[in-house]
Amino acid sequence: MEGYGYHAPVLPEETVSLLVTGPGIYIDGTLGGGGHSQLILRRIADAYGSGRSLLVGIDQDSFALEEASRKLAEYHGSTMFVRGNFSTVGDVARSALKGPGAGLPVMGILLDLGVSSFQIDTPGRGFSYLRNGPLDMRMDPDGPVTAADIVNGYDEKSLALIFRRYGEEPLGGRIAKALVAARQTGMISTTGELATLVKEACPRKDLAVKTLSRVYQALRIEVNDELGVLAEALDEGFASLSPGGRMAVISYHSLEDRIVKRFFASKAAEDWGPKGVALREPLVPAKGILVTRKAVTATAEEIGRNPRSRSARLRVVQKI
Ligand SMILES: C[S@@+](CC[C@H](N)C(=O)[O-])C[C@H]1O[C@@H](n2cnc3c(N)ncnc32)[C@H](O)[C@@H]1O
Repeated sequence: MEGYGYHAPVLPEETVSLLVTGPGIYIDGTLGGGGHSQLILRRIADAYGSGRSLLVGIDQDSFALEEASRKLAEYHGSTMFVRGNFSTVGDVARSALKGPGAGLPVMGILLDLGVSSFQIDTPGRGFSYLRNGPLDMRMDPDGPVTAADIVNGYDEKSLALIFRRYGEEPLGGRIAKALVAARQTGMISTTGELATLVKEACPRKDLAVKTLSRVYQALRIEVNDELGVLAEALDEGFASLSPGGRMAVISYHSLEDRIVKRFFASKAAEDWGPKGVALREPLVPAKGILVTRKAVTATAEEIGRNPRSRSARLRVVQKI
């Protein structure tokens, strides 16, 4: 553990060597504790010298911004921090280009998705079934919807849908029913209360931990609209890159990875028009090249050192 409980960055060497290809603007859309940003800044300084580059760090969590700006203080002058959602990466890139990054190409965008270990380990943020706290789960502490609003406010059908779709939880219907029954006698307001109800609804107690983590994941995705903002960020981010610039995304569950994989594939696809028509060149040329044909995953050594890397999948695309 370093700093305020941020763990080591995941796939550190792989991410930096696939992302950093020249001086320019790099946008870390998920700044967190600043681990990846620090490595990017170091690599730029070693390879190209400082002064011709800018690192822009975005996070919706003010605690993360505080921690990262402390960690990256030595790079003062080459950094810009923005509190906000990475879905606005296009606006952030434009304001960097009008300000400290004027005249520089946008060379890289990184998204290391999900919550930080700091957020999970802080009981008051309500992300973990292992730590009792308010049922919150907002990555942006000022966000409009908490997990308690969803658990106590959504109807049974909507809850079941969320658990099945975002948690891929086969017992989603059964758990939704149990929650709706329990809230007749009072609000479900803590992570502990929710964990007890979910465990009680599981017929196989030995499988309850998997169900708990899937239910908590599903609620977190809904609270933070994680899949919606990812789709926006991919579009906006790719559009903001300069030719030759790269976008790297590290995802931790299959729903996110599928969105990233499809988006990158769509950018790398050429359109040759209707079958049977012989053309010399495609009607619509590819806009990108897949830098990673298959997702990059962590080595056994990294998984041993940093268990969070176990499910990480890194994909990188380059704009043509
Ligand atoms: C996995 S951590 C990033 C860790 C970071 N790469 C490091 O090395 O320290 C994810 C961070 O992204 C932030 N985050 C997640 N989704 C976000 C979004 N849609 N907009 C802005 N920040 C987001 C979270 O608040 C969290 O601090």
